[in-house]
Amino acid sequence: MLRLPEVQSPFLRALAGQANRPPPIWLMRQAGRYLPEYREVRAKVPSFLDLCRTPELAAEVTLQPLRRFDLDAAIVFSDILIVPFALGQRVEFIEGEGPKLEPVRDVKAVAALCREGVAEALAPVYETIERVTAELPNVLPLIGFCGAPWTVATYMVEGQGSKDQAAARLMAYRDEATFQRLIDLLVDISAEYLVNQVRAGARALQIFDSWAGSLPEEQFERWCIAPTKRLVQQVKVKDPHIPVIGFPRGAGVGAERYAKETGVDAVSCDTSQPLAWVREKLQTLVAVQGNLDPLLLVAGGPQLDRRVEAILAALGSGPFIFNLGHGILPETPIEYVERLVSLVKAGSA
Ligand code: CP3
Repeated sequence: MLRLPEVQSPFLRALAGQANRPPPIWLMRQAGRYLPEYREVRAKVPSFLDLCRTPELAAEVTLQPLRRFDLDAAIVFSDILIVPFALGQRVEFIEGEGPKLEPVRDVKAVAALCREGVAEALAPVYETIERVTAELPNVLPLIGFCGAPWTVATYMVEGQGSKDQAAARLMAYRDEATFQRLIDLLVDISAEYLVNQVRAGARALQIFDSWAGSLPEEQFERWCIAPTKRLVQQVKVKDPHIPVIGFPRGAGVGAERYAKETGVDAVSCDTSQPLAWVREKLQTLVAVQGNLDPLLLVAGGPQLDRRVEAILAALGSGPFIFNLGHGILPETPIEYVERLVSLVKAGSA
């Protein structure tokens, strides 16, 4: 009888729908400013984008959290805004202020975005992935990622982060055809980008839709679910078996529809989604990931232990990947990350 080799990685097993005891764990933004060794590498280059585009250094910071903590996956060090940069939009990261882009607000600006330079601009990310996967044992898969078309579009239109994504939402109401054109372009480029990340060695993908929560029902369907579904389809036509995690942050009960309609293999849950609801409505459809409050990892103490235990008790008996409900914060003490990983590995708090 032919015996298929068992999938070694608990992270990939969870994405294939299996429960694991203990569950796998990784942390969104696991490489970053809370690590002194990251700050040291970051100081060697003038800008954050230079770090993303220097494979030797980006590979180094991708591996840093795995040297310190017993995590079950790596995520390539890059940023979702490398896609607008590759399309020729001016993108800068200003210390203490976040990203600044030359806003794309009308049909002329959308038409000026250019596919020609994309492959070359994204090539350093593929090289980073090749370097990292050459160093990782088989049991530690690398996650490739992109921003969802909606979330990337919010930065492209607004020209920066915003609390309500008003500029993008207004453009989508006032000039639907132009906004659709922008979204379509992002679907195509992001699909190509994800497929190339898989070719370079990524063994799972995550789509970050950080601003899905600002969309009312109809717009959520149109600008979050529909483009994500096309993106997942375009990737799975090329790589039918690559697992995809979707993170529709702030979607609330909309995450159920997202799980049913987009074709993702797992949904990453944010802090607000109740554990019993996640178990009943999402974990019965797909694998789930999440959803510890990143601020609890700053606070530590008995509250952290209690919440880890509650999450494990609610979700640990199904396909589950322990993670935060959003990215790790720069002020997070390293000891609390160590504590979290050891609690999860012990199986209960
Ligand atoms: O998870 C990882 O370790 C991989 C690296 C990663 C970064 N950004 C590195 C980064 C990933 C997966 C992202 C995703 C990302 N980038 C998202 C989606 C997730 C989320 O947080 O909602 C978004 C919206 C962005 C855009 C972005 N990049 C913003 C708004 C900022 C400024 C805010 C901040 O945290 O500084 C960034 C900068 C950024 N991206 C940093 C890092 C490590 C900090 C820059 C620095 O170190 O100088």
